Amino acid sequence: MTQELARYLCELSSEIARQVGVLIDRKGAIAYVIVGDAKGLFLPDLGRFRAAPNRLRGLRYIHTHLRGEPLSADDMADLAHLRFDVMVAIRVGADGLPDGSHVASLLPDNPEGRQWDIREHLPIGQLDQDFMRFIQSLEEEFERTQRAYAVGGNRERAILMSVTPGNKAAAEESLDELAELAESGGVVPAGRMIQQRHRIDPNYLIGRGKLDEVIVRGLQVGADLLIFDQSLTPSQSRAIAERTELKVIDRTMLILDIFAQRALSREGKIQVELAQLKYLMPYLANKGTALSRLAGGIGGRGPGETKLESDRRRVQDRINQLEKQLRGVSQGRHLRRQQRQRRQLPVISIVGYTNAGKSTLLNTLTNSQVLAQDRLFATLDPSSWRLRFPRDLEVLITDTVGFIRDLPPDLLAAFQATLDELHDADLLLHVVDVSSSYLDDHIKAVETILGDLNLDGIPRLMVFNKMDLVSPDTAVNVARMHDGVALSAHDRQTLQPLIDRLQDVLIEHNPGRVEDVPVMVGQ
Ligand code: GTP
Repeated sequence: MTQELARYLCELSSEIARQVGVLIDRKGAIAYVIVGDAKGLFLPDLGRFRAAPNRLRGLRYIHTHLRGEPLSADDMADLAHLRFDVMVAIRVGADGLPDGSHVASLLPDNPEGRQWDIREHLPIGQLDQDFMRFIQSLEEEFERTQRAYAVGGNRERAILMSVTPGNKAAAEESLDELAELAESGGVVPAGRMIQQRHRIDPNYLIGRGKLDEVIVRGLQVGADLLIFDQSLTPSQSRAIAERTELKVIDRTMLILDIFAQRALSREGKIQVELAQLKYLMPYLANKGTALSRLAGGIGGRGPGETKLESDRRRVQDRINQLEKQLRGVSQGRHLRRQQRQRRQLPVISIVGYTNAGKSTLLNTLTNSQVLAQDRLFATLDPSSWRLRFPRDLEVLITDTVGFIRDLPPDLLAAFQATLDELHDADLLLHVVDVSSSYLDDHIKAVETILGDLNLDGIPRLMVFNKMDLVSPDTAVNVARMHDGVALSAHDRQTLQPLIDRLQDVLIEHNPGRVEDVPVMVGQ
């Protein structure tokens, strides 16, 4: 900015007794001129200057202050919300000439948790000095500090947000779980914020000031995604996405996204897409610019932006089509069940809280040399494996999607059919992460869902996994308390107690097939 421009703005401002502002792009061209009143200015919609959510806007904002006042709360909110390169307020002196300035810029991540830096009473002459170099080094610093959060390579980074009238510890605990869910969904949790509020803001759920903090935090950690622990209404999502320019999802959408990634069977996939479409339908009420930021799912998965950009009628058609397909698939499932019954293979289903290690255990079991396996139902149901135990026992073993505490009722209904497979099970292996501090909550959540699905009659064996992460005594004691076994799914050598117990149960179930040979787990 030249000193002449400052002088010109001040002269104009003093003549009309109103604040005057300009927005200047990185090439030095004036993009907007704004005239306000004596106390403030209203900024225009900067739609044409969209910036990636984790970048500065590429615009500096220079305006006059007629009464020598410092940068106001509104100024700082604009700086944060619009991610200006810098914000400059020039003081108009009594003679109508520039009389010093206040300059603010956003700060990269720093140990003090500061969001911006303000330099007051800067002589006008200094404003000229190498603005471009300042911006370049600021951007480099942002990039450098953002990289510290980029542990997951190209994975999306999210800020986790909770708004609660209740106590902070409970919110923290719930955010721990949201972080685990985010990880399961392939997202890196890069920051978290909690706002305790007794009165929930109907528009943004959180206060507007907090939302501006979220924007700066997003810039500091290089986030593209904002995940709320609480449910958002479509209009809240839209308003938040518009203000923050971040993609916004809530806990339910995150869970749906994880299910979408995990669903293996055709039926599971259809169920998930149906649940997603039904959940997202209200978002299609008004087509707004922020729609793709709302409903695209993580990394553009899920029902997908293109499908959601289409109108409600087409989405409804898709729902009808999926429901029809589902009826067809249910018949296939019936057939599959009959095939199984004909083979008379006992069925073991692995259930458990999300991230407990179910898939890892299934992998280790199926790769264990003692247990022969083949992909018997690969075409029909890729999650079923046939295992042959040393004592010549054969079983089918199947994995399920992870269970989650407070599974929204809509989802439970949608997944009932997928989990319906569990009714075929002769034994449920309930896998628990023994190292989790929420061990009891997780067990309870799984038991509750099994109860809701009327599965509590099926025999159950508790498997306390990840024993490598706790002391051996702890794992064994916890397992003993629940009459279960402790193991580490990462370590094949620890599976022996599980295999022994499974064989005992299976022999009880089907005593005719036993050959009493010693059992050893392979290397
Ligand atoms: P969902 O599909 O989300 O329900 O998860 P899951 O229960 O199938 O868990 P998964 O097998 O994907 O394992 C979750 C994480 O725990 C992975 O990072 C595994 O590497 C890790 N894990 C599994 N078993 C063990 C174990 O015995 N020890 C340790 N330290 N980590 C384990």
